[in-house]
Amino acid sequence: MTEIAFLLNGETVRAGGAPTRSLLDYLREQRGLTGTKEGCNEGDCGACTVIVTDPEGGLRALNACILFLPQLAGRAVRTVEGLAEGGALHPVQRAMVEHHGSQCGFCTPGFVMAMAAAHAQGRTDHDDQLAGNLCRCTGYAPIIRAAEAAEGAPLPAWIESDREKLKTLAPAQTGGAATRSADAAAAPAAGRAPYEPETGRGTDATLTEAPGFIPETADELAAWYLDHPDATLIAGATDVGLWVTKGLRALPETAFLNRCEDLKTITRADGRIRFSAGVTMTRVLEALAAPYPSYAEMVRRYGSVQVRNAATIGGSLANGSPIGDNAPALIALGATIHLRKGDARRELPLEDFFIDYGKQDRQPGEFVEAVSLPEGRERFRVYKISKRFDQDISAVCGAFDVTVEDGTITHARTGFGGMAATPKRAKAFEAALTGKPWNIETVEAALPALADDFTPLTDMRASAQYRLEAAQGLARRYFAEVSGQKTSVLEVRA
Ligand SMILES: Cc1cc2nc3c(=O)[nH]c(=O)nc-3n(C[C@H](O)[C@H](O)[C@H](O)COP(=O)(O)OP(=O)(O)OC[C@H]3O[C@@H](n4cnc5c(N)ncnc54)[C@H](O)[C@@H]3O)c2cc1C
Ligand code: FES
Ligand code: FES
Repeated sequence: MTEIAFLLNGETVRAGGAPTRSLLDYLREQRGLTGTKEGCNEGDCGACTVIVTDPEGGLRALNACILFLPQLAGRAVRTVEGLAEGGALHPVQRAMVEHHGSQCGFCTPGFVMAMAAAHAQGRTDHDDQLAGNLCRCTGYAPIIRAAEAAEGAPLPAWIESDREKLKTLAPAQTGGAATRSADAAAAPAAGRAPYEPETGRGTDATLTEAPGFIPETADELAAWYLDHPDATLIAGATDVGLWVTKGLRALPETAFLNRCEDLKTITRADGRIRFSAGVTMTRVLEALAAPYPSYAEMVRRYGSVQVRNAATIGGSLANGSPIGDNAPALIALGATIHLRKGDARRELPLEDFFIDYGKQDRQPGEFVEAVSLPEGRERFRVYKISKRFDQDISAVCGAFDVTVEDGTITHARTGFGGMAATPKRAKAFEAALTGKPWNIETVEAALPALADDFTPLTDMRASAQYRLEAAQGLARRYFAEVSGQKTSVLEVRA
């Protein structure tokens, strides 16, 4: 039984310790690589951004603060210390200097890493690419100018050399587990002495946590989970990461899903699209851009690039969040959730999966294998309302799919988040629409039914009254957008 292995700035390193030790803590406390900063420690500020290359060569920006070490098995990590080559700055670093993109410098390594990942992918949508990075003193204009200036500059050689080295790197786990033993024995990163912390998060967890299990296939996961039904499954860790960094929880048993390639497939057949549970939100955005532009637009505001690169669609449903953004959209689309326990599989309408707050229809040892949805619902729309445009949790998320035949509404499905203890359909509102003529008067007459469907809460994101009015506003917006009768909406509201 050995530890996990990954590339760190081009060198192979091996690490064990508590499976919920974050990459950020490991870099700073064990490796002395303090260029990667700790800001929020919850995925919100981007100060800890690193670049991770997958075995198949894909490269992405991730937040190291909510990335657990076992998620890196067989992957390559680049930190800001590994960006420059042979004494020459990376093009985005040079551009940051030339365009005065840094003042106090605390956010700068995170920005530079996010910019370098975007540069490697040829992205020029800098506002979106950097929405997950906060700067509190320079201001964003010089940073965006620097990102623009670096566009098209030659790629650094380490990208290819990391990809080549990954081809022969064994993730170095035996029996699919990472041990707790090897931190002290870890080889120092190039040019650096190991830095041993006197204390640190992870210390307590080391005493109580069993080795993390890292299956290679869904079959392996299914068999193991049957025997370990109380274990915590960890996919992208964008939720579970916070249980550890903010909740200070030790997780006695864990399984890490991100080496299961068969949990990352997207298939299209018979007018349906099926996302395996481990598909990241970045890939969901790409896959839904053509069939459902409003869904893709909503996902563009789902966390940040770094969050979407880690967060999975399965994790976003399994967590049962009443304010998650996928569930309302998928419920309105009539999606099906596919569950697996051992070799037994079952499926159910997604809306029935959410039983009550924190309670989902999932048995011990059962996991989410996939979610499937119809393609081609042309009148489907989803809207997200949050206090801040980018990287904010929804106050209300509303999704609508209304079918009209010969001017009459024959089918109405909705899905709402932020309005109840679970993501839910507005069935009274749907009933008030069905069978009626498709016009703004029908919509207006149906709006009071939303108050029968929901008794929302007042919390820090929004008041109950705001939520109800926002949901009604979204219904009006849906009608205006789909019917093209924008003026009539304004007239009715006036
Ligand atoms: C900064 C930040 C911004 C965010 N912004 C948004 C946002 O805009 N909209 C939004 O909806 N959410 C947002 N989230 C929440 C989070 O990103 C999503 O809920 C995410 O999709 C969770 O997926 P994950 O793979 O990271 O789940 P994990 O954290 O790995 O797991 C979440 C839960 O699901 C379980 N689980 C994971 N996979 C499976 C499986 N296959 N079967 C059974 N159980 C499983 C885990 O055990 C855990 O209980 C944000 C989070 C952060 C940190
Ligand atoms: S420290 Fe803020 S995102 Fe990681
Ligand atoms: S340079 Fe100070 S926070 Fe960005």
